[in-house]
Amino acid sequence: MHFSSLLAVAAATTPLAVYAKGQLGYALGSRLSDGSCKAQSDYEADLAVLKETATIVRTYANVDGGDSSGPICHVPGALLPAAEAAGMKVILGIWADTDTAFDADVAEFFKYAKDYTSTIYAVTVGSEALYRNQQDSSTGLTGDGLLNQISKFYSQTSSSGLLGKYKIGTAESWNKYQDGTANPIVSSGKVDILLVNAFGYWQQQLISNATATYLDDLQQAFGKIQSEAGSTTSIELWNGETGWPTDGGTNYGAAIAGTDNAFTFFKDGVCAALDWNINVFYFEAFDEPWKPASTGADGQPGNENHWGAYNVDRSPKFKDYSCSYSS
Ligand SMILES: *[C@@H]1O[C@H](CO)[C@@H](O)[C@H](O)[C@H]1NC(C)=O
Repeated sequence: MHFSSLLAVAAATTPLAVYAKGQLGYALGSRLSDGSCKAQSDYEADLAVLKETATIVRTYANVDGGDSSGPICHVPGALLPAAEAAGMKVILGIWADTDTAFDADVAEFFKYAKDYTSTIYAVTVGSEALYRNQQDSSTGLTGDGLLNQISKFYSQTSSSGLLGKYKIGTAESWNKYQDGTANPIVSSGKVDILLVNAFGYWQQQLISNATATYLDDLQQAFGKIQSEAGSTTSIELWNGETGWPTDGGTNYGAAIAGTDNAFTFFKDGVCAALDWNINVFYFEAFDEPWKPASTGADGQPGNENHWGAYNVDRSPKFKDYSCSYSS
């Protein structure tokens, strides 16, 4: 469907408000194609592309790697100056699963936090920690375990005089909110933002049903959080990740990887969520060929090398990244 040209015709004949209501952001990796760490200049080049459609990016760890994935990348010192110069916001991630990773990420964060409060929109403590714990109890965190890490970060923010300067929360798969695993966190009074990850792809949906599944997942998670919190406004809710693998990616059940399908999902699913005034992080900004092979929940290959909205050289995969709405 040539949606934009239809709108152009309509705009010529009737007054029409055309705008995206939610904010679009991107999940942004810390490595170049060979696995080495991005420098400030690399982030500057990334953001020059992303700021054409997005207002914000999110990351996963402040001291990233040091294992099989490659050298240790120190993210905030390279990313925050680039984002500030680009006029973009950042949600920084703290890896919460082990105290070693948590302590390193927190220490790195507080080296920069005071100087960049206008650029740091929020901090997520943990990324799908509850989901990993459900898959394998030797990894990830329980609801109480994750709340303990969030509470420690909240206290350190408070003792640094930074409470209220950025939002604090976590990022988690939609079903861990919906099934109540995240309830201790939702009702803790320690979080004012929660990111909900939802993918029609990871639910093995045909592309034709992917948007319905994605929006339904978000609605279930948001509804559960709001009822548990007893408020629709006390916790800001974002879609923390969604996306679809492009050509070269792996299929997952009925979900078929491919750039055409990814573009369809972007235009149908992401644009629909934005139109509902939901802020969306697309997973992810650029391809990450350095990522090691991984396995999906069904035991099949689930590699994450081809999830970028852009190629690793920052060239576009889609012919258009805009969302246009008629009021
Ligand atoms: C399509 O998505 C809806 C919403 O998630 C779901 O209830 C339904 O079962 C899906 N249909 C198929 C054929 O999977």
